[in-house]
Amino acid sequence: MSTLNGKIAVVTGGNSGIGYASAKEFKSQGAQVVITGRNSEKVELAAKELGVKGIVADVKNISAIENLVAQVKESFGKVDVLFVNAGIFQPAPVGQISEEMFDHQIGINFKGAVFTTEKFLPILNDGASIINLSSVNAYTGMPNTAVYAASKAALNSYTRTAATELASRKIRINAVNPGPVYTPIFEKTGMNEEQLKGLSEAMENRIPLKRFGQPEDIAKLVTFLASDDASFITGSEYNIDGGININPLLG
Ligand SMILES: NC(=O)c1ccc[n+]([C@@H]2O[C@H](COP(=O)([O-])OP(=O)(O)OC[C@H]3O[C@@H](n4cnc5c(N)ncnc54)[C@H](OP(=O)(O)O)[C@@H]3O)[C@@H](O)[C@H]2O)c1
Repeated sequence: MSTLNGKIAVVTGGNSGIGYASAKEFKSQGAQVVITGRNSEKVELAAKELGVKGIVADVKNISAIENLVAQVKESFGKVDVLFVNAGIFQPAPVGQISEEMFDHQIGINFKGAVFTTEKFLPILNDGASIINLSSVNAYTGMPNTAVYAASKAALNSYTRTAATELASRKIRINAVNPGPVYTPIFEKTGMNEEQLKGLSEAMENRIPLKRFGQPEDIAKLVTFLASDDASFITGSEYNIDGGININPLLG
């Protein structure tokens, strides 16, 4: 099995959850890793724990992405792996969707993702791998997730088209669609402990493998897609969800 020895990998939103676990896995497979996030204390702490470089960059702000690219270029030159992972989950029922919430969620999950790739392209090596962190929500009608789900569905659509265009540079781009994974993303919604417990139990019951994913489960798939073992894979999507997307009609 090939490793990521000598590769330069950038992980957006790498101070927490799936990004943090992936940065750790990238490093353990030999890559040099840069993590980003929007909060300097969190980024610094995580970078120190992981022994990687941390750079603060809010993906909602295009000039912050440009500044990130400039810093990465100065420190590493070119990049081999771009893990576009930064994202938020802001549930709201249809009928109570504010323009602010729409702009914020689409601004980070879709626009931020698109412009991360857009701005990194000039410093991506030919043959690089881009992995977009999407969600099984892109294909579900889970209540209160209309805008979140649409942000991820848009990202998957973008991934397919970008794959055809970037193939001339042998740059591969794929999407990963996790089901529920234990990370701080749910607490950040502002739901209280009881609501979080209810949501967690309801979801767990519907997962055929009867458990949430761990960030490390996702990290293994992401590092595989980044590696040369995945050299014939582009424009694809991978569900990694304990089977929740099978939608078994009988439990
Ligand atoms: N957990 C799940 O069940 C699940 C399922 C499917 C898909 N996903 C997707 O997985 C990705 C990672 O989420 P996670 O579950 O690991 O959640 P998480 O622990 O909250 O991590 C999200 C990361 O993205 C960062 N981030 C958020 N907004 C940002 C911005 N504007 N600029 C830069 N960084 C930003 C966060 O920084 P802060 O620490 O400052 O918030 C954090 O480092 C997201 O795209 C999410 O939609 C998660």
